[in-house]
Formats: sequence, structure tokens, C-alpha cells
Amino acid sequence: MTARRNKISVIGAGFVGSTCAHWAAARELGDVVILDINEGAAKGKALDLFQASPVFKFDTQVKGTSNYEDIAGSDVVIITAGMPRKPGMSRDELVGINAKIVKDVCEGVKKYAPESFVIVVCNPMDAMAVYAKKILGFPRERVIGMGGALDSARFRAFMAEELGVSIKDVNAMVIGNHGDAMMPLARLANVAGIPVTELMSKEKLDAIVARTKQAGAEIGGLLKTGSAFYAPAAGSVEMAEAILKDQKRVMSCAVELNGEYGVQGLFVGVPCVLGKNGLEKILPLELNTEEKAEFVKSVAAVQALVDGLKNVQ
Ligand code: APR
Repeated sequence: MTARRNKISVIGAGFVGSTCAHWAAARELGDVVILDINEGAAKGKALDLFQASPVFKFDTQVKGTSNYEDIAGSDVVIITAGMPRKPGMSRDELVGINAKIVKDVCEGVKKYAPESFVIVVCNPMDAMAVYAKKILGFPRERVIGMGGALDSARFRAFMAEELGVSIKDVNAMVIGNHGDAMMPLARLANVAGIPVTELMSKEKLDAIVARTKQAGAEIGGLLKTGSAFYAPAAGSVEMAEAILKDQKRVMSCAVELNGEYGVQGLFVGVPCVLGKNGLEKILPLELNTEEKAEFVKSVAAVQALVDGLKNVQ
């Protein structure tokens, strides 16, 4: 009997892609393929990562390639190929450039990994997910955007730091778009069940909400070239793990809404259950008046990005 190993393909061997490969391999989620148009980068990083495996004892094959045939049979494909934001550049400006790359990539994924679950990471993710789903022609359960997992992690990290408590005990979610109009849900954030609103002043919490919204830009400003990659990769691998291990994790994911939350046909971050069927459930959430107004702004931001896609061939 041969036990089948999971296979995870990461498209893009840049900062985000190679970090995804690193964590997916180190957590032994399955065998990992790194694909990049820059074959040397994909092969070199894969070889390097494989050579680390005896040290940390992860039993994972890692292969680098520029050939889509090598992603055949993938369970999960994480799409990170694309240009990162340059300092001062908005995610929106990336639409035209990255849509061409996403088209290329999705044609390869559709042909060689037609049964895979696809996690879309490249920015502007809200629009790239829509475009990826269109090219792939996969059902919405199998095309999921990574934004909420990252933004929620940032929100939780800042709250844990401020309160001096373990990150393990902070629960919070960021919904909406993956951009300036994202919605850190401060009202529902809690530490081991205690509302965060009871543990810190409104001023402190407001400052954390504002910092969360700008967290990507803060890192980009520090790095000068390129953008964040550890936390984006962590969010991507968290989603892949939830699917591969059928964990039924509840996390904010950008999924195509078909009437849920009053939205039709757009990818917006909402609370989802991720398991072996990909998107298994969208959880309802009663937003208050203020949050509803914010959600409308978030959706409008996604719509504006998607409108930008109309000029893309
Ligand atoms: N097919 C495959 N790989 C491609 C293609 C393509 N058509 N076009 C570009 N790439 C590869 C590049 O060769 C490069 O190795 O994508 C990789 C991108 O890597 P980086 O420039 O390091 O970018 P990174 O920081 O990883 O960000 C990638 O994720 O978080 C988002 O905003 C970020 O959109 C950006 C993406």
C-alpha cells in the first residue's frame, strides 16, 4: 500500500513564495513544489530548503521548477507570483501588472492541477482573486483569497503586545477588503473571552485598529524595497493547513459572495470555515450600524479594484 502524500505548489519563488514553501515544508504539510518563471530561483531555493531538512528533520520533498507539468496532482496551489508593492505604491496600482501574471499562472494551474484548492496571495488580492476564479473556472469553494488571515494576525499581534498577554489568548478578526478600508472588528476582539474593549482604552484600541490598516505600508516603508513576507506567508500556510488537515478552522477569508452579507459576485473577507472541501461555510455576523457603514466602504473599495480589471485583456 502506498500512502499518498499531500502536495502543495507555491507559484512564485520570491519572498512570499519561498517563505510559504519554507513553512509548508517545515510543518510537513506535504511535498512542496516551487514554480517560478525564473527557473534558477525556484530550483536554487528548493534545493537550499531541502538541504535544511536533515537539520530540522522535516520529511518533505522540495522541488523547484518553471514547468507547470510539475504541479500536476497538487492538493493546494498558493499563488504568490507577481510584483510586490513598492514604497508609496498602492495595492491598486498593481492591478494591471499582476493581472497578466495571474492569467499566465491560472492557465497553467487549470491545465495541470484542475482539482486543486487555490489560495490567491498576490496583490491587489481582492481583484486578483476575482480574476483568478474567472480564468480557472473553479467553483468558489476552491478559489480563496488570503488577506483576512494576515490582517487578523497583525491585529492580534498588536493587541497582545499592548496588553502584555500571550498571542495565543487573543482572538480577533479583520473582515472586508485587503486594503485601507479593511475592518478590524474591535468590538468582537477578546482575550480569553474578555472583551478587549474592557481591557484597554478606546484611544489605544483605535490606534491599534489604525496601525493594523497600515501594517503592510509600515513594513514596506521600513524595507524600502519589497513588501512584507513572513506574515503573508504564515497566513497562506495557515489556510493551506486548514484545508489539508480538514481542520474546520474559522478564519477571515476573501471568498466570492453570492448574496451573503448583501454582496453579489465580489470577493470580500468574511468569517469562513475552511476544511477538506475548501470553503465549507460562510458564517453570518450581525454587524452594528457603524460596522455596516464600514463594510459598505470596504465593498466599494473591492468594486473599484475590480472595475480596474475591465481594462485588462
Ligand atoms: N510566473 C511565475 N512566476 C512569476 C511570474 C510568472 N508569470 N511573474 C513573476 N513571477 C515571480 C518572479 O520571478 C518573482 O520570483 O514572482 C516572484 C515574486 O517575488 P517577489 O518579487 O519577491 O515578490 P513577493 O514579495 O514574494 O510578493 C509577491 O505577494 O504579498 C504579495 O504584494 C505581494 O503581489 C506581491 C506577491
